[in-house]
Amino acid sequence: MNLLYKKSFLPALAVALLAASCAGSGPEKTPEQNTAGNSQPTTLKEAFKDDFYIGAALNAGQVMGRDEKAAELVKEQFNTISPENVLKWGPINPRPGVYNFEPADAYVEFGEKNNMFTVGHTLVWHSQAPDWIFEGANGQPASRDTLLQRMENHIKTIAGRYEGRIDGWDVVNEALEDDGSMRKSKWLTLAGEDFIEKAFQYARVADPEAELYYNDYSLWKPEKRDGAVRLVKGLLDKGIKVDGIGMQGHYGIDYPTIDQIEASIEAFAALGVKVMVTELDIDLLPNPTGRQGADIVHTVEAREGFNPYAEGLPDSVQQKLSKRYADIFALFHKHRDKISRVTFWGVADHHSWLNNWPMPGRTSYPMVFDRNYQPKPAFEAIVEAASK
Ligand code: G3I
Repeated sequence: MNLLYKKSFLPALAVALLAASCAGSGPEKTPEQNTAGNSQPTTLKEAFKDDFYIGAALNAGQVMGRDEKAAELVKEQFNTISPENVLKWGPINPRPGVYNFEPADAYVEFGEKNNMFTVGHTLVWHSQAPDWIFEGANGQPASRDTLLQRMENHIKTIAGRYEGRIDGWDVVNEALEDDGSMRKSKWLTLAGEDFIEKAFQYARVADPEAELYYNDYSLWKPEKRDGAVRLVKGLLDKGIKVDGIGMQGHYGIDYPTIDQIEASIEAFAALGVKVMVTELDIDLLPNPTGRQGADIVHTVEAREGFNPYAEGLPDSVQQKLSKRYADIFALFHKHRDKISRVTFWGVADHHSWLNNWPMPGRTSYPMVFDRNYQPKPAFEAIVEAASK
């Protein structure tokens, strides 16, 4: 079990002592408990209080007081948060020397105020990374030294600003291709393969106490799973401390199989690092390109057949979604000794990036709260999975 106490049965002091003595083997902040006094959990954080942190990614509006309903729901249901965009390089440092700290500060304050395990996402990524990072003098590509210097400065500035306030950082995001080889990003081609170890080293210096993670999508694919194992093992073998691997859970209704997800949980846990499900959502809409990842395919026009639930989700599909979430959470619950956190990528359906990816303007239903902030049948199914 990752949460090492049952607060309801132990005096507060004993809880604090036990948590302190077990530091390092699981989340250390005290998740809030259900105060409803019911024997049945009414919130996700209550349902999984002995298992793992459970949370959601928040957008700028939600932490800056522009979506109070979402903020209230998050406080009620979750004990960890991730920043959907506000801490990425582009949004926070769009031009050299220009910083947009306000939304990121609000995000960190939100986590602190509500005693939540607060995640930083992400320090080094090929996407949402402004062009200037990779440019040298006279329009030439930046040299390795320049690029690494910019990386170090970025990590020092951002992770350093929130030192002691962000509990875990996605240090490097999506550095692998689906075949498990290194992604041919500008980071790789201009700085070389050791950009990853440099990033972890810089982050360790900037915030020695924060947990540091490698995060990627489609890690259920055997080749990519092996690639991530190679990558993280290589870092660990060099003495570079990696605290966990984040498996982005951008899943479909019929892929991946439970066995594929399980194989990755087991493979990553065998490295001795924490396993996290970092970006969970289940896409019910057809994917016209079959692509994964974050890039929007602007050339594909929304057309008939690709937005089938614009008027509402049929009951039969709602039930499928519940069953899929139940199966996935049964797996997470089974592996609660390995999983430290599960984070949904969004709060309610209308917040999800999947309304605009891979084509803009569709009506998506990937979350467990609907457009009225109400729990969907999947919510009950998940709570039920926690009790088995
Ligand atoms: O904030 C601007 C706004 O000012 C502008 O008017 C508008 C016009 O397009 O864009 C807004 O920025 C958008 C931003 O989301 C905030 O809504 C960007 O265009 C859009 O590209 C960006 O998408 C984000 C995407 O990462 C970027 O690659 C999604 O919200 C976010 O959910 C998604 O998250 C990623 C994870 O970080 C990594 N794993 C995959 C995951 C899903 O793609």
